[in-house]
Amino acid sequence: MNEQLKDFLTIDDFDVEGKTVLFRADINSVVINGKVQMKERIEENAKTIRELSAKRAKVVILAHQGRAGGDDFLPLDQHAQLLRNFVDLKYVDDIMGPVARAAIKNLNEGEVLLLDNVRMLAEETLDRTPEEHAKSIFVTRLASLADIYINDAFSVAHRSHASVVGFPKVLDAGIGRLMERELMALGRAVIDIKRPVVYVLGGAKPEEVFDIMEFALEKGVDSILTTGVIGSFFLYAKGVIPLKVDNLLFEHVGRARRIANRGGRRIKYPWDVAIEVNGRRKEIPLDEVRANQRIYDIGEITCEKYGEIIKNARTVIMKGPAGAYEKKEFAKGTKKIFKAIADSDAFSLLGGGHTSAAISEVGMNRQEMDNVHVSLAGGAFLRYLLGKPLPGIEVLKKR
Ligand code: 3PG
Repeated sequence: MNEQLKDFLTIDDFDVEGKTVLFRADINSVVINGKVQMKERIEENAKTIRELSAKRAKVVILAHQGRAGGDDFLPLDQHAQLLRNFVDLKYVDDIMGPVARAAIKNLNEGEVLLLDNVRMLAEETLDRTPEEHAKSIFVTRLASLADIYINDAFSVAHRSHASVVGFPKVLDAGIGRLMERELMALGRAVIDIKRPVVYVLGGAKPEEVFDIMEFALEKGVDSILTTGVIGSFFLYAKGVIPLKVDNLLFEHVGRARRIANRGGRRIKYPWDVAIEVNGRRKEIPLDEVRANQRIYDIGEITCEKYGEIIKNARTVIMKGPAGAYEKKEFAKGTKKIFKAIADSDAFSLLGGGHTSAAISEVGMNRQEMDNVHVSLAGGAFLRYLLGKPLPGIEVLKKR
C-alpha cells in the first residue's frame, strides 16, 4: 500500500457488484459561447466510472458545472454527451426529485446514471460542516438509495459542499482512481520529498505564487525559478528593470522584494526576456528593457540556465506558464521548460489550470512525459501545495 493512500479506502476495498455507488466526479469544464468544452477531467473520471460499471456496480454520478449566477452555470446534458464518448450512461435533469429517485431505483447492475448539476440545489453550497451537510435533505434522500460513496473529484476537495463532505458521514466511503493518482503525486511533492527540490513558478496570478514561494522557502526549497509575469515582478523588485509605479504593481513588487530578500540565492530570475517588436518575438538582455515594457516570455539564455537546474533536480513542482504561450511566438519558453522537465529524471508535478492547458497547446504529448504528473485541479492543488487540509479529503480518512 502506498504511504499516501494508507488513510483511505479505495475501490479495491469494496465489493461493488450489485451495489448502488454514489460517485462524485469533477467534470466542470470551460464553456465557450454556451458550449461545454471537452476536458481531460471528463475522460479521466470516465475511466473510473467504466471500472465501476465493469465491476457490475450501479453508478450514480454527482457533479457540478460553474457557480450560480455565472455564464458557465449550466445543466449537465452536454456533459452527458461528452461522457458518452467514453462510457454508456443515462442522464436525468433532476437531482433528488421523483424523476432522479426513480431512475436510481431502476438502475440495473453495470448501468450508469448522471444526475443534474448539484449546485442547482441551494443546500449544496451552504457554508456548513460535514455533520450539518450530512443532515441535509439532499444527502439524506440520496444516501437512503445508495450503499457506497466514492469521491474521484480531487479538484473540488477544497470545498466543504454537501456532495463532497456530507455523504462520507453517512455511507461507507472511499476514493476513486483519479483521486488516488492525485494524492500519490501531491504527496510526493509535499510530504515525501526527494531533494534537490525545484519550484518553477510563473503565470499571471502573483498572490497565489507569492503564497507558494513563502511556504516553499519555509520548508527549505533548494531553488525557485521565476518565470512569466512573476519573473517580471522580481526583476522590478530587484531594480534590474525599471518600473513606473502604479498602485497595484507597487503592492506586488513590495511583496516580491520581501520574498527576494528572504530567499536570497535560492530564488532565480530571468537573465533575458522576449518582447514584441512589430508583432514578432525579439529577445533582449535585461538592461535593454524599458520602463513598464510588456515582457512576453523568458529568453533563450534563461531557458538554458533553468534547464540545467531542472536536470539536476530530483523533484520539480511547476505552476504557471513561463510566458504568453497562447501566442505561438511566445510559447518557446514554456515549451523549453516542459521539455527540460520531461527529459529530467526528477519526479515532477505540474498543476494549475493554465499549466495543464499549456501542455497541450504547445504541442507536448503527456504520454511522453514519464515521471510527470499533471494535476487536473486548480484551487485544490494550490491549497494542498500550501500544506492546508482539504475538507473533502479529511472527511474520507478512515476513522
Ligand atoms: C475547479 O474547476 O477548480 C473545480 O471544479 C472547483 O470549482 P469551483 O472553484 O467553482 O468550486
